Amino acid sequence: MIPELSNPSVFMRDPQRVEEIIKTMQMDSTSTIQVISDFDMTLTRFAYNGKRCPTSHNILDNSKLISEECKAQLKDLLNTYYPIEIDSKRTAEEKLPLMVEWWTKAHTLLVQQRIRKDLLQDVVKESDAMLREGYQLFFDHLQEHSIPLLIFSAGVGDVLEEVIRQAGVFHPNVKVFSNYMDFDETGALKAFKGELIHIYNKREGALLNTGHFQELKSRHNVLLLGDSLGDLTMADGVHSMENILKIGFLNDKVEERKTSYLNAYDIVLVKDETMEVPNAIMLHLT
Ligand code: C5P
Ligand code: MG
Repeated sequence: MIPELSNPSVFMRDPQRVEEIIKTMQMDSTSTIQVISDFDMTLTRFAYNGKRCPTSHNILDNSKLISEECKAQLKDLLNTYYPIEIDSKRTAEEKLPLMVEWWTKAHTLLVQQRIRKDLLQDVVKESDAMLREGYQLFFDHLQEHSIPLLIFSAGVGDVLEEVIRQAGVFHPNVKVFSNYMDFDETGALKAFKGELIHIYNKREGALLNTGHFQELKSRHNVLLLGDSLGDLTMADGVHSMENILKIGFLNDKVEERKTSYLNAYDIVLVKDETMEVPNAIMLHLT
């Protein structure tokens, strides 16, 4: 049906079910679709030329806005907690308090650095942030067809917005739920706003934003894109959902995590740095 679904990076627990979901969605009008996507390592690349690409947090961590001492501390946190994030032997319940610990410690360090709002633009420009290949078609096509795209990220909202702005794809159909910085009157970071979003409370984040989903209540067909098992709850606020197609990027620790990803996502894209498959599905649906 969609030739890209035969790409070597594509794995599906039940290809027939995927076909059925796509067929059902395709028969409905484009006005019934909404897309909900994670940001870091879903819309952005995991690696390029064998080198890891930064998350929105890492863009700050590696920047000129952070002292050498603080950089070392942030790196220690990454080295401690990232292996826990991707550890397939621990349950989400075990990981949750540790993830809260990671985010809280990292945000405290960032606030201590009194990051300047007016320098964020430079920092993003100077970073190695990279959206996945094919991002332009993805964003532009959704905009052309007036399909809402919700970017739901446990990263840093101000940074990720700047990434998509600089890529020229921050179109009016894009809405972001994320952790936003709060600056004082001199433009220095003083705190993070609102409830913390980490990888395991996206469901709570979704339920806090009922207004957004209320506006989209006629859009009962959902395309969900993520790279973490925590991303699966991003659509929990959607009203009267009829069909959902879940596409998951499996970037790291592939062998250990493949079974759990296959059980959770309808389509698993293994070490696939492109938007080729989501784009092919989107073109088929519209
Ligand atoms: O956009 P997304 O929800 O994927 O952002 C979360 C990602 O940010 C996590 O997968 C985690 O690896 C990363 N992270 C980070 N530095 C932190 C906290 C989280 O790079 N301090
Ligand atoms: Mg992610």
